[in-house]
Amino acid sequence: MQLTIADIFSGKPVEGLPHNHFIEGEYVTSQGGTSMDSFDAGRGEVFAQFTNGTVADVNDAVASAQHAFETKWRKVPPAERARILQNAAKLILQNEERLAFVECLDCGKPLNEALGDVRGAARAFEYYAGACDKLQGDTFPLTHGYIGFSLIEPVGVTAHVIPWNFPISTAARGIAPALAAGCTVVAKPAEQTPFSALLLAELLVEAGLPAGVCNVVTGTGVDVGAPLVAHKSIDQITFTGSVATGKSVMKVAADSVTRVVLELGGKSPVVVLNDCNQDSALEGVLGAIFENAGQICSAGSRLVIERGIHDEFVEKICARAQDLTLGHGLRNPQVGPVNSAEHLQKVAGFVDRAKTRGAEILTGGAVTSDPQTGKGWFYQPTIIANRPVDDELVQDEIFGPVLTIQIAENAEDALSLANNSNFGLAAGVYTSDISTALELARDIDAGQVYINEYFAGGIEVPFGGNKQSGFGREKGLEGLKSYCKIKSIAAKI
Ligand code: NAI
Ligand code: MG
Repeated sequence: MQLTIADIFSGKPVEGLPHNHFIEGEYVTSQGGTSMDSFDAGRGEVFAQFTNGTVADVNDAVASAQHAFETKWRKVPPAERARILQNAAKLILQNEERLAFVECLDCGKPLNEALGDVRGAARAFEYYAGACDKLQGDTFPLTHGYIGFSLIEPVGVTAHVIPWNFPISTAARGIAPALAAGCTVVAKPAEQTPFSALLLAELLVEAGLPAGVCNVVTGTGVDVGAPLVAHKSIDQITFTGSVATGKSVMKVAADSVTRVVLELGGKSPVVVLNDCNQDSALEGVLGAIFENAGQICSAGSRLVIERGIHDEFVEKICARAQDLTLGHGLRNPQVGPVNSAEHLQKVAGFVDRAKTRGAEILTGGAVTSDPQTGKGWFYQPTIIANRPVDDELVQDEIFGPVLTIQIAENAEDALSLANNSNFGLAAGVYTSDISTALELARDIDAGQVYINEYFAGGIEVPFGGNKQSGFGREKGLEGLKSYCKIKSIAAKI
């Protein structure tokens, strides 16, 4: 696959993409599956086909992962596991352009953002490579005549259900710690973005991963996701996606008492106080909502701003939002399309309903297209003036480039507005008073709080939600725990 941007725009078919599942170390044809289209969101056109799998495919992939767990992977010495994960990181970087190109087409996100995601995926393998041979247990201080200690064991076969907004990074942040812990994997990418997970699994085998340790089955949530999470041989489910689907996954998991980590939605506040550095707050707020066209679970979608700087700050941010360049991801605009026609309608619906409630749209507020081609699924970067706390723009995840403002009278009021949400994934705080920053960080009910730089941190920092945003943590050493179980051993000697 050596396509250029010019090829894509002249309509050349993208060849060389996998269209089968990846099971037992190779691409395999589905048993009864059908072909599905994947769309280039930037043009709103089909660019490749992939397989919508079946229960039989899921069963094969799980059987492969189970066999690989029992006979191969858990017996590979931890230091050897580490070398394979390091190789994987290197191979991902060696293939970064190809992977970013595919991710950009499939998601719609700007190529530079896609490249950042691919590098982040490599970093996840590098980080967890270092953990493989450091999964140590404890000893327990028992009475004289006894000895007690624990072993850290892999949980077994893990299922990874992946969304379309960060396909390769979400895959990597789940698969890398699972493999580090000695688990095997069946991953199901979203039906909107099937390719990067397949390519990743192929690279893992090239890196030395034994066949069957990481399998990928593509297809819809109904046809592949549901049978995968319901499969009796799955020991751990890592799900990232909507609250509604997360709840159904948790219910299904309950039937077989399977562990789950749920990374669900968010409605994260960015608190901007009078004494902040306005330049960095402006950058932060813009990136928090317009990066990946707002399709980020931890997007800062509520600007909670102190009244004293409201007028000045809002004027500046609206001007900046109007200046953002829109376009096909391959041309590296500041804002790309949203991922699907269906999702575009969902985003537009929120703003259209708000208009009928009398909301003031400060900038944006309409569906648009790539100015160069007139194609694609775009929504204008949108900012909506102060809304009451019970408004759906304040309470519901829009998952698009739509920022809602809430005015706070002071820091205490900002805290109360920030916490008035069913979600608790992330929050940002902009202030030059370190005590205020730390007080807010302590009191905001969220899995992560960013001070003076939204999205600060990396793979080292645990990530996950409170309340309806889910539970369990990914990333960091904490992220390994989902894939480990503790066996306590006590002996009379
Ligand atoms: P979704 O939660 O239905 O899809 C996420 C993944 O779950 C996909 O791989 C999908 O195929 C799979 N899935 C769907 N139904 C399943 C089932 N019954 N069992 C197992 N797996 C299943 O989300 P969708 O429909 O793509 O987007 C709907 C909304 O969800 C978005 O508009 C957005 O608000 C939110 N969302 C949030 C994400 C986040 O990172 N927090 C990511 C994706 C979507
Ligand atoms: Mg697509």
